[in-house]
Amino acid sequence: MTKKIVLLAAMAAVAVSALKAQNTYTPTAENLESRKEFADMRFGIFLHWGLYSTFAQGEWYMQNAGITFEEYSKAATGFYPSRFNAREWVAAIKASGAGYITITTRHHEGFSMWATKQWDYNIVDATPFKRDIIGELAEECHRQGIRLHLYYSHLDWAREDYPMGRTGTRCGKDPKKADWPKYYRFMNAQLTELLTNYGKIGAIWFDGWWDHDSDPTPFDWQLDEQYALIHRLQPACLVGNNHHMSPNPGEDIQIFERDLPGENKAGFVDQAAEISRLPLETCETMNGMWGYKVQDQNYKTTKQLIHYLVNTAGKGANLLMNIGPQPNGELPATAVQRLKEMGEWMQVYGSTIRATKAGDVPVQEWGATTRRDDKLYVHILNYDRRELYLPLQCKVVKAATFADGKRVGVTKTAEGVVLTLPEVPNGYDYVVELQTK
Ligand code: GLC
Repeated sequence: MTKKIVLLAAMAAVAVSALKAQNTYTPTAENLESRKEFADMRFGIFLHWGLYSTFAQGEWYMQNAGITFEEYSKAATGFYPSRFNAREWVAAIKASGAGYITITTRHHEGFSMWATKQWDYNIVDATPFKRDIIGELAEECHRQGIRLHLYYSHLDWAREDYPMGRTGTRCGKDPKKADWPKYYRFMNAQLTELLTNYGKIGAIWFDGWWDHDSDPTPFDWQLDEQYALIHRLQPACLVGNNHHMSPNPGEDIQIFERDLPGENKAGFVDQAAEISRLPLETCETMNGMWGYKVQDQNYKTTKQLIHYLVNTAGKGANLLMNIGPQPNGELPATAVQRLKEMGEWMQVYGSTIRATKAGDVPVQEWGATTRRDDKLYVHILNYDRRELYLPLQCKVVKAATFADGKRVGVTKTAEGVVLTLPEVPNGYDYVVELQTK
């Protein structure tokens, strides 16, 4: 009898731990709705802005140049972005056809861009500017009807209570002062402010998990509890984490850095990472750096940016394209020009990108396909012939160029169809609309 009870108790314990391992995160109805809205937008703008912009050497300057917090933090007393105008930023970004903005609220340098009560190393208390940047931006986003996502760094090069990982090693911290419970409380209090004081927040975008990926024993970030806090405060707020692995329970989107899902050209993706069924997002820079770097004029052309957007959509993912605002508070003029030109393109072709899924033909050298219901959009990006073969299983009932409705010939072959275009493809993206059955 006692043996039986012991056995039963042991079985129950195994069942509980199995449940825990699975983690029973069930997204709410409003969260699922928010995921759909997110995926439908297909295009967002990333903003990397912080104290680092004053050095104009990108957001990793503190670590890369090995500057101590004591020296680095002095820049705050000179940070006065006199030309910051949230209304202009949001208008310029909206004009690009993007549906959301993701901004760094606090990057690895540890400086907070809002009126946080948790530490005076922030835009309001530590600078002569004294304005709540996130607050002003949030208000404008809500006013102009564009969604706001907040980037939040898990790792911190400035605070002594953050247990140092493989970065931040040159910032003059005393690793003995690490105090994880205190730092964890600090982060959660900050996240609570962000999700309480600024209206509806579309997503929290975490970064820095990888700082502890080489620890001798696995580092416990206590993500479950933190994600639960976010979902409790705003159930529709999506959680994403730039950890380069398969998603953890509690995450609502999957993030890819500088690569389309399934690629690993940048070399960030973990070997075991799989593409999940969550909404996907790829982030990329418009020039070379995330944060403003004065000598970085290596901007992608409008054509390259549009091709990137089309290929991302062809993979069934969102594109989050980054801009690094200047220390004076302006978006770089070249970036604004690119936004304008992307917007002109989106005006015409937006419906072949937004609210679509990856098309029937996977991304090819010549281009990509997207689909909405019975419409298949063939985006011809790099091709200079009039005959294009598509390995299509479905039946094509109608075919025409998207922009001007010119007739496109369709010839059935054993493995698919051959399109005969009215001309050699031209423009950034020559789109053919197929109605299929
Ligand atoms: C990396 C970098 C960081 C940047 C981020 C954006 O993780 O550490 O500077 O914010 O990528 O994807």
